Amino acid sequence: MATGLSIRPAVPTDYDAIAGVVDDWWGRPVLQAIPRLFLDHFASTSLVAEHHGQLAGFLIGFFAPAESLCAYIHFVGVHPNHRGTGLARELYGRFGAAARAHGRTMIRAITSPGNVGSVAFHRALGFVVDGPIADYNGPGRDMITFELRLTE
Ligand SMILES: CC(C)(COP(=O)(O)OP(=O)(O)OC[C@H]1O[C@@H](n2cnc3c(N)ncnc32)[C@H](O)[C@@H]1OP(=O)(O)O)[C@@H](O)C(=O)NCCC(=O)NCCS
Repeated sequence: MATGLSIRPAVPTDYDAIAGVVDDWWGRPVLQAIPRLFLDHFASTSLVAEHHGQLAGFLIGFFAPAESLCAYIHFVGVHPNHRGTGLARELYGRFGAAARAHGRTMIRAITSPGNVGSVAFHRALGFVVDGPIADYNGPGRDMITFELRLTE
């Protein structure tokens, strides 16, 4: 990880900083997929990376209440200036370690078929990639799924 970067558990008040950058970081409108509830209710399992106090990256994830072996990552984002430095890999590693410590044996995530960067990133981390799965999120909303088995 680059010098000056630190990673900490998220807190609900991180929401405004995250909401303020996601459309820019993704290069398209995605904020509607990240309502405040994710920070209000899943901050303790989510992570924030800062570079000299400025938001450099984040991971929003949770340990699935209805699937006792599964942890789920809803969104991960890294500031364009910090991409390619291993920051997202580090965020996934820390989330995975916490999930394993809580008895979870797999991480799942999804992305839209157009997000080739997300597919390449998850492949690089060893996720099994499946899809596009037709109508996954309702009519006409195909999605790609990712699954990673967590090792001891
Ligand atoms: C996808 C994203 C989170 C990756 O963050 P990052 O910090 O640059 O990723 P890392 O540096 O940790 O890369 C880890 C591995 O993934 C690979 N990777 C990451 N992004 C990639 C891309 N766009 N294309 C190809 N490979 C990529 C890296 O080469 C690296 O592989 P290696 O370790 O074998 O060399 C970042 O590009 C981003 O924020 N994109 C916009 C938001 C988004 O699409 N998020 C994912 C969907 S929720």
